Amino acid sequence: MSTTLASRASSTASRPPVTTVRVALAGCGTVGGALLDLLARHADDLTRRHALRFHVVRILARDASRPRSTAVERALLTTSVAEFLDTPADVVVEAIGGSCTADVLARGALAHGRALVTANKALLRTQGPALAAFGPRLRFEAAVGGGVPIVRLLREGLAGQGVHRVRAVLNGTTNYILSRIERGDPYAAALAAAQRAGFAEADPSRDLQGVDAADKLALLAWLAFGADPSTLEVVTEGLPRDVDAAVRGAARSGRRLRLVATAERAARGVTAHVSPALLHLDDPLAAAVDEENVIQVTSASSGTLTLRGRGAGGAATAAALLADLIHLFQPGTH
Ligand SMILES: NC(=O)c1ccc[n+]([C@@H]2O[C@H](COP(=O)([O-])OP(=O)(O)OC[C@H]3O[C@@H](n4cnc5c(N)ncnc54)[C@H](OP(=O)(O)O)[C@@H]3O)[C@@H](O)[C@H]2O)c1
Repeated sequence: MSTTLASRASSTASRPPVTTVRVALAGCGTVGGALLDLLARHADDLTRRHALRFHVVRILARDASRPRSTAVERALLTTSVAEFLDTPADVVVEAIGGSCTADVLARGALAHGRALVTANKALLRTQGPALAAFGPRLRFEAAVGGGVPIVRLLREGLAGQGVHRVRAVLNGTTNYILSRIERGDPYAAALAAAQRAGFAEADPSRDLQGVDAADKLALLAWLAFGADPSTLEVVTEGLPRDVDAAVRGAARSGRRLRLVATAERAARGVTAHVSPALLHLDDPLAAAVDEENVIQVTSASSGTLTLRGRGAGGAATAAALLADLIHLFQPGTH
């Protein structure tokens, strides 16, 4: 891959030269802030193990006056998208969410020849194929599954293996809420706890109505079956209106309520749906607790693989962003 890297400094004779990568970070909230923490904490390890030094050169936010953690260097902050995009960088990490500004950033970054790493499933659902057309510098491990590396598994590990089914719990926020209700919290308290923990947005309707899970499922169907996520119909139903009663009813019948997303390749095309389901306790998807995701992928050659891990939260999502950064720039990867 050809990138304009800031510098390549030789280290000792026995080690590969260290590559410095200039990172422009859009968003320093739950996910962007956690990425800054990770980059600072693991700087030595990244240099030693991967011969990489990430240098954050600009940070985009909405409100420059807002109090920030010490990981955010205030001198790097800007609220101007133009100034952000004019800053020389090797990669733009997009962690602002939403569609309008994120789309401008994504196209601006790729058109300027930069790599783009994004956590934004809503953007990718509508613009993924158009952005991918810029070339292989688009990465989005963080957009689905949080810390569960499902994007790489479908893109690489299972490429060419005839995946025909993906079945998953993909929304950490609703799963966290359901788990808290199972432990005795009323719905309102469970939602407030999800918001305090940084899983749920101030407006959590996309999570609760199943739209976030549908966006993620469409991206998995894109990776697994080549389905266009912007036109794929995902039949979507969110959590039931009286979710407290539904969780209690499930427990009485020895089951668990989970928001389940399923996509399958059938003779007539790809079918996809998201809906609440009452699962037997021995169903691997019923094991998703709190913000966890569980993803099952069935292919002709490998049978059914099951992945389970943290599907939301700053640390898990930032780790996925960092994995993409390492993969893009680690010497010898391309
Ligand atoms: N939170 C999770 O668990 C999670 C998991 C997986 C994926 N994601 C995805 O990660 C992305 C970020 O989520 P988050 O939870 O980190 O959100 P967040 O905490 O609300 O942070 C958003 C950040 O982006 C900035 N921002 C938002 N809109 C902007 C705009 N129009 N112009 C400039 N800056 C803007 C905000 O600036 P201010 O600080 O000035 O407000 C803030 O720093 C989203 O795409 C989300 O879907 C999140």
